[in-house]
Order: sequence, then structure tokens, then C-alpha cells
Amino acid sequence: MVTEPTPDPFESPSKITPDLIVGNIGELLVCPSTTHGGLGLIPNGVVAVSNGIVVWVGPAPAASRSLSAGPKTRMFNAEGKVVMPGLVECHTHLAFGGGRAHEFQARVAGWSYAEIAAGGGGIMSTMRMTRSASREQLMLATRRRLDVMLDYGITTAETKSGYGLTTVDELRLLDIYRELDRLHEVDILPTFMGAHTIPLEHRSNPEFYVSLVVEEMLPQVAERNLARYCDVFCEPDIFDLNQSRRVLEEARRLGMQLLIHADQLQHAGGAELAAELGVLGASHLDHVDEDGITALTEAGVVAQLLPGATFFLGHTDYAPARRLLERGVRVALSTDFNPGTCYTENLWLIATIASCNMHMDITEVVRAITCEAATSLGISGRAGTLQAGAQADLLVLDTDDHMDIPYHFGINPVRVVMKKGAVVRDRRKQIRHQMSPGAGRRWA
Ligand code: NIG
Ligand code: FE
Repeated sequence: MVTEPTPDPFESPSKITPDLIVGNIGELLVCPSTTHGGLGLIPNGVVAVSNGIVVWVGPAPAASRSLSAGPKTRMFNAEGKVVMPGLVECHTHLAFGGGRAHEFQARVAGWSYAEIAAGGGGIMSTMRMTRSASREQLMLATRRRLDVMLDYGITTAETKSGYGLTTVDELRLLDIYRELDRLHEVDILPTFMGAHTIPLEHRSNPEFYVSLVVEEMLPQVAERNLARYCDVFCEPDIFDLNQSRRVLEEARRLGMQLLIHADQLQHAGGAELAAELGVLGASHLDHVDEDGITALTEAGVVAQLLPGATFFLGHTDYAPARRLLERGVRVALSTDFNPGTCYTENLWLIATIASCNMHMDITEVVRAITCEAATSLGISGRAGTLQAGAQADLLVLDTDDHMDIPYHFGINPVRVVMKKGAVVRDRRKQIRHQMSPGAGRRWA
């Protein structure tokens, strides 16, 4: 006979017994995915996790009424620090061979990005180094970049192909992403970007290359289910509006979600095309105008702003973030990690660049690297937030004041990274050693 357990008269029957309770949180930033959710700041907060999913968040006094620790419940002490969702990186170009430090020096000496590209450098030089790299070399380089990202608290990353530019080479890059998604803690969301540039061998006949992308590459990518999204570098001298539309419409027909690089180097109607096609996210937008902003607002396209690229290119025309926000466009931020226009994995640094040069406030920048980045990838509520139902990807920061996030810049503020409720990075000892006030004297 099965005996029912006797209910404890003092325990509410609706109490949750989670696998993990993260407590002693000085400031908990939930980053709710709703449009006007703000930071969802809870002082003295608690997060409860079961099976890698957040099951409860709230203030400590309410936690004792809602949660009960069972024999298998692990307790994690956040030591009074800030806890927030793992960062969502919504726009990167991770798999490539070689580097372009020499081009950086040419830019330092006064050459422009466009001049370097016209001379066979830029995307072309990375394409050559990528094609000649072995799979192992590319795997290793990409894996290292993911390691650095995870050190910085990035737990989900979108990443694009686009340095292969033949069917075989593009498939090879996407296949590397598939394998790394299996091997690495960071969740990888792959994007096919065969329309990154027209390779030199097709410059005399760009339409031929567009047909290759549409008729040969896209069907094979779709058949092997290698990409969740398709992106196009829409610029007048790269892929014009009609070519971009052709690629993106075919990608949609094959079941991919759409992204676009729009109005980065000049204003050319990229935002209007993004709206017409109803893409998830439009990137860059440094030169979007008022009509473009209206189109994005009406279509509900998320702006993925990449001020690190503007900064690293030495440009001053940052995207009009304030105008976009005033008009109700949701704004995400990303590094645009790539070897040419923004070679950094540090998304926190981008938050500071956005604060200083685009006047985004603390709530806007923190949301932009968490819940809004998730919205721009169509994974709202699942990543970039700590509301119940989200994956338990969370960060403990090395501060008890969230206002430090964009203020203390160029550093790594992360103490602990948890992925699906498991600690995957623990920098506490390292940080204690560096920060301990007695450390200097001990060695004197
Ligand atoms: O996002 N815009 C297109 N692609 C990159 C640049 C790539 C490169 O220079 O290698 C970007 O800025
Ligand atoms: Fe990009």
C-alpha cells in the first residue's frame, strides 16, 4: 500500500523545493523581457532554479514563504553582490582565420576602412586566411573566442558565417558552429551570411554571386539545418536593396529568421527594407534617417546597435540611439566581434561606449545586452532575463552597485558565471587576490 506523506500543517502546499537557491544577492537585476520592464531591480533578492530553469525570483523575505530547501537543494551565496542574467551577444563574426593588426595600423596612419577594402584588404583578406586555415585551426581559434566571451559573462551568442564565400567554405564555418554548440558552454545561434561581400572573383558579375547564394548556398544550408538566421550586408556598394531582398526572401521561404546589416556606412534605405521584410533585428543603423526610424517603429524591428564598430573605425557618426528609443524602437547592443571593424569580446565595454557616445542610460544599456538582445534574436523570455521560465544563466558581478556596470569600464566585472544553474566560471579567488587591501603589504 502506498502511504501518502503527512502534510506539514505549517508548510504551504504550494512551496517550491528547487535544486539551487542563489541567495544573499545585494541587487538582483531580473531584466524582465516586457517592453517597459526596466531593470526589475530587487534589493536583497533570491533566485531559485530547478532543472536549469529559473522557477522563482523575489526578495529574501518572500523567499522563505515560497521556497523550501530539500536535502538535495544546493545553496549559493552571492556575498551581497549584483546578480544579473548572463549576457546575450546578438551579432558576431566568430569563425575566421588570421588577424588584421597590420590593417589596424594602416587605419591608425589615416587610411579608411573603405580604402583598405578597395585595395584587396578588409573582408577579402580575412576570407583568404579563412579559406587556407584548416578545420582544426578554425575550431581552435573560434573556441578560444568563445572562452573569452564566457569569461566576460556571455552565455548566449549569435554568430555568423561570411568569411568563406564559396558553398563549401560557408558550410564548413557553419559546421564548426554546430560542433562548438555541442562542445562549448555558450549557447550558439548560427547565422548564414554568405552575402557578406562579393568575393573578388565575382566582382565583374555580382548577380552571379547573388544567384550562387540564393540557388546553391541557401538550399544546402537549409537542408542541413545549419543556420537559424540569415543576414545580409546591405550597402549600396556591397549588396544593394534588390539583391538583399532576393537573398532574405529566399531565406525566409526556406524557414530561416532574418537579420540585416543596414545603413552602416551610408544611408540607403536599409532600415526601410528591414521593415518591409519584417526582419527580427537590423544592425548598425549609424546613418538611419527619420523615415527609416518610422519604418522600424511601425514594423517592430529591434535595432542591434554596434557602437564598438563606430568607435574602432574612428568614426563619429554613432547611431541615433536616443531618437530610436524615443520613437519606441527596442534597442539591443552588441560587439559585432570581427577582425576588421571591432576586435573585442568585451560587451561591457560596448555598454560604456553606448553610454558616452549615444547617451543611453544605465537601464537602457543593461537591458540592451540582456533581454533586448534576446528579443532581437527571437528568444525573448528564454535568455537574457531571470524571470521564471528563463534558462538559469546568471552572473555574479564583482560589485554591490549595478550603477558601476557602465561606469567602471574596460575591465571584466564578472566573479561567477552560471550556465543552466551550474557554475562554469569562478573568478572569486583571482579577484580576492587582486583586490585584497593587505595583499600589497604582504609582499613588501
Ligand atoms: O559587421 N559589416 C560587415 N561586416 C563586418 C565587418 C567585417 C570585416 O571587416 O571583416 C561588420 O562591421
Ligand atoms: Fe557585422
